[in-house]
Amino acid sequence: SPEQCSRAVAVQRRVDCHPQPGATQENCEARGCTWCTTDVPNAPWCFFPEDSPYGYSLGGNAEKTAKGWRVTLNKRSQLSLFGNDISPVVVDVEFQTKDRLRFKIYDPNTERFEVPLKIDSPGVAVISIYLQITTTVPSTSVYGFGEHEHVSFKHNMDFVTYGMFSRDQAPTPFANLYGVHPFYMCVEDDSNAHGVLLLNSNAQDVSLSPNPSLTFRTIGGILDFYVFLGPTPENVVQQYTEAIGRPHMPAYWSLGFQLSRWGYGSIDVLKETVNRMHRYDIPYDVQHLDIDYMERRLDFTYDKENFAGLPEYLQELKKAGMHNIIILDPFISKDEEPGTYRPYDLGEEMGIWVNNSDGVTPAVGQAWPPGNAVFPDYTNPRTVEWWNQLCLEFKNVLDYDGIWIDMNEPSNFLQGQFPGCADNDINNPPYIPSISDRSLAEKTLCPDSKTYLGEHYNTHSLFGWSQTAPTFHAVQQATGKRAFVLSRSTFVSSGKHGGHWLGDNFSQWKDMHYSIIGMLEFNLFGMPYIGADICGFNYNTTYELCLRWMQLGSFYPFSRNHNEQDPAFFGEEFAKISRATLRIRYSLLPYLYTLFFESHVHGNTVVRSLMHEFTSDQQTRGIDTAFLWGPAFMVAPVLEEASTAIKKHHHTGIK
Ligand code: NOJ
Repeated sequence: SPEQCSRAVAVQRRVDCHPQPGATQENCEARGCTWCTTDVPNAPWCFFPEDSPYGYSLGGNAEKTAKGWRVTLNKRSQLSLFGNDISPVVVDVEFQTKDRLRFKIYDPNTERFEVPLKIDSPGVAVISIYLQITTTVPSTSVYGFGEHEHVSFKHNMDFVTYGMFSRDQAPTPFANLYGVHPFYMCVEDDSNAHGVLLLNSNAQDVSLSPNPSLTFRTIGGILDFYVFLGPTPENVVQQYTEAIGRPHMPAYWSLGFQLSRWGYGSIDVLKETVNRMHRYDIPYDVQHLDIDYMERRLDFTYDKENFAGLPEYLQELKKAGMHNIIILDPFISKDEEPGTYRPYDLGEEMGIWVNNSDGVTPAVGQAWPPGNAVFPDYTNPRTVEWWNQLCLEFKNVLDYDGIWIDMNEPSNFLQGQFPGCADNDINNPPYIPSISDRSLAEKTLCPDSKTYLGEHYNTHSLFGWSQTAPTFHAVQQATGKRAFVLSRSTFVSSGKHGGHWLGDNFSQWKDMHYSIIGMLEFNLFGMPYIGADICGFNYNTTYELCLRWMQLGSFYPFSRNHNEQDPAFFGEEFAKISRATLRIRYSLLPYLYTLFFESHVHGNTVVRSLMHEFTSDQQTRGIDTAFLWGPAFMVAPVLEEASTAIKKHHHTGIK
């Protein structure tokens, strides 16, 4: 009633009691929550009352443990939001280091999936199968969470929800993208910063409310929180990467400018492009080969017709001082003639594929290669052996310096494998977080598929992560040098073994701006080797957009053009300007390299927002149209069409 609503929780403090679609007054009240409409955009109409019957209360006294405290919590009522609630639950609080606090909430009676990431703690979280926890935060300056295309670096807290579940998804605001990083940083009004990681790999979402508060919902694993105490933004990232692993040290050459294209189509076009780059004298050190180098898109092959002579050509490039990157996809065709395709035959013999729910028959999906494909399960040590072997052998065919691992969400062009997903609780859980299509099987495998580490339901978002370290070690072994791995799907700690690009962006002006935000965020996530496809990937670029993007991209830590239009395509004037900005980059490479060293050893960010260095200046909190290399070099690119200057204090960050 209106009177009840006037006395109810203030709108900005509401926490959604019906996060799944289809809330009505009836089903809201049936779950013991309050229903009040409001015209505040996105604010929940169904929310927890002040004296919510949900949640847990303390059962008994806290008990001292080796590194902290343990308490037991009991459910307050029989009411259940998602079903199957666990009670009691245990909360362990550990003082892990002087800067790091962990609290872990788990079921003391049944083992549940835990992310297999080892975090050392020299000294000093989880609820039902569907877990929800709300926390207030001390300010609205909240940054992070990924992977998404955020439209501002500093988050909008007006009832915004972000889903996290790795997905083959072109960057679109609010959609869950390729990787999962349940990490945020909050900067208080007095400039003290702290960071929080929820170490959980299940499909999950987080809601940001104006109170300000955050509500985490995950549909598996445990609630395992790590708090990094700062006090500066840089300290937070140093403490975070101390826990999860410092970023790898990239090779010097990989800081040079890189060229790629999906669709050279032939070695002649590739050669022409390379020559044109040299003719225009555009600084350029690395050439990528996308799937068109392969024979019928089969991993570990090359197209001997259209790319005849590719092995020799790559060696020629290397002699000229260039470096080569080849792409590999995770799916392996099962439909080649028996005995003719070693990657499949060997893998089959070794039993290394992701399996159906029976745990023995391989999951069969469909992707780039003709016919159908199976998926290597990189959480299995035998798969790592298989992959390592093939990468080493292939080095004798194509002389690569690094490997680009794509489509490893893992992507599948069907909804679940053949013959579709069974109708069960794992495939259709009672709550699906706010992810695209509200489906766990869309564009990937069925959640009840089996991997070595457990159900795909738990390990889905770890697929790319589990492929990254083995690829890093294979490249290291194959080249005898520092490894280069570029991965599309990433998870907490992927930066230890790889870099990332922001995926299939669009040739649009706003995507240029968003690329700065993505780059800043991946620096928070401990993945400073990051960049976006310069000039855009989807849609057609224009001369002006592409040129402005070359200027901005000259300052991406990972600087690669992956467009149909390379910088030598548009003629002399374009080439001259690209050459000039790239030369600024090259003149600063010793500085950039030093920043990477600092990041590798101390965990610093390489690219950072102005807020990191000028934290006490409130104005900097929302700036995301300019950025810094380390503490000392600012880049403020033109991000708008038909403009030749940028406004002082111009920023699109939210107020
Ligand atoms: C998807 C990747 O994101 C893109 O960069 C690549 O060109 C295509 N796959 C083809 O391999």
